[in-house]
Amino acid sequence: MPQQTAHYLKDYRAPEYLVPAIRLDFDIREEHTAVAAELSIQPQPNAGGTLVLQGSAELVSLAINGQRLPENSYSLENNTLSIPNVPAQPFSLSVSTRLYPHANKSLMGLYASGGNLYTQCEPEGFRKITYHPDRPDVMGIYTTRISADRARYPVLLSNGNRTGSGSLPDNRHWAEWHDPFAKPSYLFALVAGDLVCTRDSFTTKSGRQVALEFFTRAEDAGKVRFGIESLKHAMRWDETRFGLEYDLDIFMVVAVGDFNMGAMENKGLNIFNTACVLADSRSATDADFERVEGVIAHEYFHNWTGNRVTCRDWFQLSLKEGLTVFRDQEFSADRASREVRRIENVAFLRAHQFPEDAGPTAHPVRPASYVEMNNFYTLTVYEKGAEVVRMYHTFLGEAGFQKGMQLYFQRHDGQAVTCDDFRAAMADANGFDFEQFALWYSQAGTPVLEVSGSLQAGNRFMLNVRQSIPPTPDMAAKQPMMIPLKVALFSADEDSFGEPIPFRLPENLSADANTHTEAVLTLQQAEENIELQFEGAYRQVVPSLLRGFSAPVNLHYAYSDHELSVLLACDSDPFARWEAAQTLYRRAIAANEAALVSGSPLPEHRALLQAIDYVLRADIGAAFQAVLLGVPGEAELWAGRKNIDPLIIHRAREALLDLIASHFAEQFAALNAEARRMEEEQSGLAEPYEYHPQQAGWRALRNVCRAFILRASPAHIAEVAERYPQMAHNMTHEWGILCAINHNERPERNRLLEQFAAKFRSDDLVMCKYFTLIAASHRADTPAQIQAALAHPAFSLENPNKARALLGSFGRNVPHFHAADGSGYAFLAGQIGRIDRFNPQIAARLAQAFNICAQLEPQRRSLMRAELEKLAADPALSKDSGEIIGKILQ
Ligand code: ARG
Ligand code: ZN
Repeated sequence: MPQQTAHYLKDYRAPEYLVPAIRLDFDIREEHTAVAAELSIQPQPNAGGTLVLQGSAELVSLAINGQRLPENSYSLENNTLSIPNVPAQPFSLSVSTRLYPHANKSLMGLYASGGNLYTQCEPEGFRKITYHPDRPDVMGIYTTRISADRARYPVLLSNGNRTGSGSLPDNRHWAEWHDPFAKPSYLFALVAGDLVCTRDSFTTKSGRQVALEFFTRAEDAGKVRFGIESLKHAMRWDETRFGLEYDLDIFMVVAVGDFNMGAMENKGLNIFNTACVLADSRSATDADFERVEGVIAHEYFHNWTGNRVTCRDWFQLSLKEGLTVFRDQEFSADRASREVRRIENVAFLRAHQFPEDAGPTAHPVRPASYVEMNNFYTLTVYEKGAEVVRMYHTFLGEAGFQKGMQLYFQRHDGQAVTCDDFRAAMADANGFDFEQFALWYSQAGTPVLEVSGSLQAGNRFMLNVRQSIPPTPDMAAKQPMMIPLKVALFSADEDSFGEPIPFRLPENLSADANTHTEAVLTLQQAEENIELQFEGAYRQVVPSLLRGFSAPVNLHYAYSDHELSVLLACDSDPFARWEAAQTLYRRAIAANEAALVSGSPLPEHRALLQAIDYVLRADIGAAFQAVLLGVPGEAELWAGRKNIDPLIIHRAREALLDLIASHFAEQFAALNAEARRMEEEQSGLAEPYEYHPQQAGWRALRNVCRAFILRASPAHIAEVAERYPQMAHNMTHEWGILCAINHNERPERNRLLEQFAAKFRSDDLVMCKYFTLIAASHRADTPAQIQAALAHPAFSLENPNKARALLGSFGRNVPHFHAADGSGYAFLAGQIGRIDRFNPQIAARLAQAFNICAQLEPQRRSLMRAELEKLAADPALSKDSGEIIGKILQ
């Protein structure tokens, strides 16, 4: 492993030189692109005389105020350019570089995809284009000129407004763009290529017309409508809920098939992974549509939270990402099915962020150090960061939160700021003390709340709450945090069964005080006792805790099975109902595991079966029913455990699913038929954009039923295969069926998958679904099928979507990845080693499948370690992978 240099938050220094304006000239040629940059440099009072710039592009020449610099007048080491003795007055620096975008497989900086050119600069890709401070607190006005062959690159785009274009000799042409808003270098973008444009427009609340332009390959133009509609919804929503209006006359979105992440919010020129913008019902599932709507909104919302107000340094990434994820979650919730969206967000956080927070790469929402910033675009920064923003909202309410947002923009529009600035705006706008709340930004690990409760004298419920934050590799001892705990009380007495009990707040127990049926308690100490008083007397009171998932914590309360069933059936908070079911599932899996380990018969799980019976009959909406039937996944069950045997937990979970499937076989068949009728009845709803949340709910329920039906009777696959063609007009159905039969050992499974691959062989996004199915299957021949997939003409290791589909999915395939002989570990490590040579970012992502290493039982742990040590021994290993693997091996 090469030497690792860490960057520390505590080392932050204000920039010595600013770059308030920059002119870029891109001369695009067959094999290379020549870039001439002219930087207006403004020395600051703290300037020391040496200008330090970052860059890794081939440097052709440097000049100051037009005077060429001889090579011995500057030094270039480790991609850092130092020019001593620069003028103390503002000056101009000309930098010319030469890029080879067709050879750039890292997909950072300027790169080619399908013959077109695209950029990705966040966080530190701009330095692959030219030499620049390349840090977000250095902001400037960009003017960009692009020239290229007209036939090969008819479309030439950059940020802002097009200010000129024209013809050049040799069938070439040029375009010039000017972005009037000062921005950090990470928001620079350029696109050149043969793309078609789908146009629309949006009138802002103040009456300005904004041109909307979506650029895709010609063959993808038919899949762009839904994304455009999503954008218009997002623009309207940001005006109505946040009072934020778009600020340029044009908003462009470009879709590209090779992209490391989901999408990028470059000012006025968003660049999207095709997977996050293209959708039609033939090739995209309802979940894909929902993702497109969410990501389009997310990138659009960045225009204010990210671009107008940006980050001072990369440690503050959650300032823009946590806030923008919160905003996109709220947007999606306001669009439809708020309760189901919230549950999905929590389930996702638990399945992915909680394990991260309990593993070797755990870090605070504002990390204290990094080696490679790309490794910190994490679930903690994004998803836990969004929960942190949500907690302000929970404390302040919508009106108070919006007051805080207004003050934030008033103070910081046009600036690069910190998470503390955001916290101060929320505090000052509301006169609210968020001092202790700062710990949410500096302490990693999921807090644990141990809660106990007792009913006293029939009219008081006493809560005892102890909080602790588990140690993480970066920090052993932690301080108590400020945690919003939303609570309610329900009666379990016969005469008032399931009714909410109005109570007085602990800070106001006087008899004439108002009562509430729900309250946000503010936890601040390691241990506290809280008294909730009410009128009348009850014999059985069930507390509903952490309602709406009011904080990203693990809460333990010794509910009886009966109490959980009360909450599941009667709680007015959908999250709390779902959580009651999740607790029953977790208990049942744990009981199965104990039985498997001791060799005793599996328990009957009566309480759980009764609860499921209730869910199957309840009139609560199909989408809600579908999520209530979701059993926690393995990664979530592993969080915080030691000496894990993944196969035993896997079998314990599978056994529970088998029991549910066989116990409710008839109900699932009936519900499936009902859902089918309802979906068809509503088939008129979807026009013209082919997705409708209500129909999606019925389809989600159908797919849950299908999975249980085929689990209970694998032979049913023959019938499914026969009827398959009828469903093959809608990807949600195709996907649901293929998932339901994917582990099936019968030959029909292979036939259906092969048909699917043949039908969609030229649709890259659908082929990703095919590779996912191959890699996720529990079938015995999966390793061989994965080998075949690697050689499939539609597969490419260089395409991140495909690599993630096949290898990322394999890393989550518990029985095969964790095969006892270590073959799964060896396979994935080998592929990561190959990818690391050209795309370190993706390699480092995939390497996180090994995060579980230290928690495994000794045999697997040493097999896994051996593979990681082999990777680490490679002197050419990237710093991206080196940082992750180093942490896992520590
Ligand atoms: N800012 C982008 C977003 O909206 C993510 C870009 C991250 N890109 C990267 N190469 N790390 O979330
Ligand atoms: Zn973002």
